[in-house]
Amino acid sequence: MGKLRPGAAEWLASGHTGRPRPLQNLLLLLWTLLHCGLGGSAQGPGEWTPWGSWSRCSSSCGRGVSVRSRRCIRFPEEEPCWGDTHEYRLCQLPNCPPGAVPFRDIQCALYNGRPVLGNQKTYQWVPFHGAPNQCDLNCLAEGHAFYHSFGRVLDGTPCSPGSQALCVAGRCLSAGCDGLLGSGALEDRCGRCGGANDSCLFVQRVFRDSGAFAGYWNVTLIPEGARHIRVGHRSRNHLALMGGDGRYVLNGHWAVSPPGTYEAAGTRVVYARAAGLEETLHAAGPTSQDLLLQVLLQEPNPGIEFEFWLPREHYGPFQAQVQALGWPLRQPQPREVQPQPPNSPAAPAAVPARIPTLAPDPCPPCPDTRGRAHRLLHYCGSDFVFQAHVLGRHRQAQETRYEVRVQLVYKNRSPLRAREYVWAPGRCPCPPLAPHREYLLAVQRLVSSDGTQDRLLLPHAGYARPWSPAEDSRARLAARHCPI
Ligand SMILES: *[C@@H]1O[C@H](CO)[C@@H](O)[C@H](O)[C@H]1NC(C)=O
Ligand SMILES: *[C@@H]1O[C@H](CO)[C@@H](O)[C@H](O)[C@H]1NC(C)=O
Repeated sequence: MGKLRPGAAEWLASGHTGRPRPLQNLLLLLWTLLHCGLGGSAQGPGEWTPWGSWSRCSSSCGRGVSVRSRRCIRFPEEEPCWGDTHEYRLCQLPNCPPGAVPFRDIQCALYNGRPVLGNQKTYQWVPFHGAPNQCDLNCLAEGHAFYHSFGRVLDGTPCSPGSQALCVAGRCLSAGCDGLLGSGALEDRCGRCGGANDSCLFVQRVFRDSGAFAGYWNVTLIPEGARHIRVGHRSRNHLALMGGDGRYVLNGHWAVSPPGTYEAAGTRVVYARAAGLEETLHAAGPTSQDLLLQVLLQEPNPGIEFEFWLPREHYGPFQAQVQALGWPLRQPQPREVQPQPPNSPAAPAAVPARIPTLAPDPCPPCPDTRGRAHRLLHYCGSDFVFQAHVLGRHRQAQETRYEVRVQLVYKNRSPLRAREYVWAPGRCPCPPLAPHREYLLAVQRLVSSDGTQDRLLLPHAGYARPWSPAEDSRARLAARHCPI
């Protein structure tokens, strides 16, 4: 869209002063000539000048707007530039003193005592908020039963009292996370404005340890930097949360805390107990220190579901710590999986892979798919990249289904389960995966149009390399090459 860094445009002052600027004109002329020479008889749209600088804030206190503009330079045969000539951003000055007259009231009051309706009668005007367009200056004649619309309010007027949105050029706009009004930019799950969830990883597990005795059991570490934390279960047991300093945030020392909001690790933890023995914890994060999630067992544990998003760089240490504590090894992993073909075994994980290791593989050789370009293509273009331990393989007429254990996640656009099925086209997929081996896989998520099938697909000639530390570093390098 041709957006430039604000700093890049400083030499070309904004057009707000209205005075002609010789330097600016000279530069524009040069620039135009250059383009003439290079572009030849270029058709298509013209080109934007760089953005001018931001104007002063529209208000003298509180919230207001600041604007910057650019111009479209084009030859008569060229189309207009694509995009906006003005950009508006929120500016925030220190709060207005208590009792300050609101901006809209001032604008209405400008018409006080003035003959405005085509006769000599005058009125006192106050804002009227019941009219259809809240960005029109609708003012009520005090003591009378009518209002009049004096056109648009000034830019930066709140759309309604207490509203976060502001009127700009007669439209009510709210600021995106980039501060630009009307940009619609949202924070992703990783806390990045306009991001695609790819600077963090989604952790979602079920803790199923049954516990040999009543008392406190470790469920998981929730590392520093975690966001969108959710924990839930349904039993008479109680969740307990401990801060990094070893002090309990809630449900410590065999005492059950009341439901409510608790401050912990720089975030607010909402603890709720609903009817039907349901207990939940929610926190937006990011957490400023590690938290330890425990459960106070009083009866067998039917399963505690937890999830959070973790900055990419915190995932490796988290995984290492959790493995060192042996937590994921003790617990059988969840077995909720994709719809299965009717005649396949119900629980493939329990069945040792029946692979005819001695029989020669009747599959023809696969094309060579090594190389950096291939890796980058698949890394950036796929929904998931992870280290997988192949537990089993099931060949069907049209496709092959692998059951894998997800070991280490490099990239996930949506939650990955601890065990997954990965499908590959044909009876002899390429590249082939051997059971009991570990691979680095790049796979796509495929959801059928009726929504009944949600599968992970390893495409033909896709990316599957035996996992090794070298492959691990290459994958981490590849991650840096993908556009957000
Ligand atoms: C990020 O993840 C959330 C939750 O899974 C999802 O709702 C949202 O659409 C994702 N955003 C992007 C840009 O993919
Ligand atoms: C629970 O985890 C904490 C922190 O890692 C550790 O100090 C403690 O020994 C663990 N408790 C059990 C019962 O494993």
